[in-house]
Amino acid sequence: MLRGLRHCPREGSGTAEPLIRLEGVSFGFGRNAVLEEICLEVRRGDFMAILGPNGAGKTTLLKVVLGLLTPAAGQVSLFGVPAGRFRERYRIGYVPQKAGAFGAFPATVWEVAATGRFARVGFWGRLSKQDEAAVREALAVLGLEHLACRPVQALSGGQRQRVAIARALAAGPEVLLLDEAAEGLDAAGEEAFYGLLERLNRERDLTVVLVTHDIGAVSRRVKQVVCLNRRIIFTGPPQECLENGKLSALYGMPVYVPGRGTESRRRRIYSRER
Ligand SMILES: Nc1ncnc2c1ncn2[C@@H]1O[C@H](COP(=O)(O)OP(=O)(O)OP(=O)(O)O)[C@@H](O)[C@H]1O
Ligand SMILES: [Mg+2]
Repeated sequence: MLRGLRHCPREGSGTAEPLIRLEGVSFGFGRNAVLEEICLEVRRGDFMAILGPNGAGKTTLLKVVLGLLTPAAGQVSLFGVPAGRFRERYRIGYVPQKAGAFGAFPATVWEVAATGRFARVGFWGRLSKQDEAAVREALAVLGLEHLACRPVQALSGGQRQRVAIARALAAGPEVLLLDEAAEGLDAAGEEAFYGLLERLNRERDLTVVLVTHDIGAVSRRVKQVVCLNRRIIFTGPPQECLENGKLSALYGMPVYVPGRGTESRRRRIYSRER
C-alpha cells in the first residue's frame, strides 16, 4: 500500500521497509521551487500513478528519486539506504520521458535492450548467458523478438518506445519508474502495455510507479494515485481521486473521467504550463 503522507511519519512506523521513501523533500531549479515538502512511500507491490499538469514536477520527482537531482531539503532513501549511499541501481528501472527518441543511435534493438544489463555487469562487462537470457525475455515480453536485429532507427515511434521499456526490464528491476512511457503507442499497444504492467505487478511482484496523463488508464488499472502540483495534494485509491472534483482541482479545469460521463471515448488531459 502507498502511504503518501501530508505529515512525514517517524522512522520505523511501517511494517516493512518501503522501497522508496521521501521525507520532506524540496527541490528547485534556481529560484523556481518545483517540489515542496514531498513525503511519499512506495512499498513492494504498489502500482501507482503520479498525475499532475504540465510543469507540476512529476519528472523532477522521479529524477530526485533516482539521484539524478539532489534535493535542497529532506531525505530520500531507497531500499532502506540513503539515496547517496545506494549502489544497487539495477533494482530500480527507469523509462524516461521520450525515452524512445534514441536520436541517430547506431545500434540494433538487441544492443539497446542489452544496455539495460550494464547496471548489473558494468559498462565494460561481458554479458553472461544469464544476462542474454534476461535481454531475450525482456524483448519477448514486449513482443520485440522478431525485431531484435533491426537498427532502432528503422523502427516506428511506438516500437522504439517498447525498446526503451524492454531496456529497463532487462535489468530485472524490482521497481519500475515510467515517465509517460505509453506516449506514442497506438490504442492496441497502449492496452497491451498497461496489461503487461499489471501482469508484471501481479505475477512477478514488480512495483510500478508511472507518470501519466491518461486518466482512463488510471481509473481502470492502478491501485494508488498521487496528485502532484509542486506539493502532493492527494494520495489514495483512484476511485477517491476521480470523484469529488479532486482532478478538476488538480488541473484547474473541469476534468472528464472516461466511463463516468456521457462520452464513451477516452481522453487525455493536458493543461497549460505553469
Ligand atoms: N533542467 C531544468 N532547468 C530549469 N528548470 C527546469 C528544468 N527541468 C524542468 N524545469 C522546470 O521545473 C518545473 C517542473 O518540470 P517537470 O519536467 O518536472 O514537470 P512535469 O510535471 O514532468 O511536466 P510534463 O507533464 O510537461 O512532463 C517546470 O517549471 C520546468 O520548467
Ligand atoms: Mg515530465
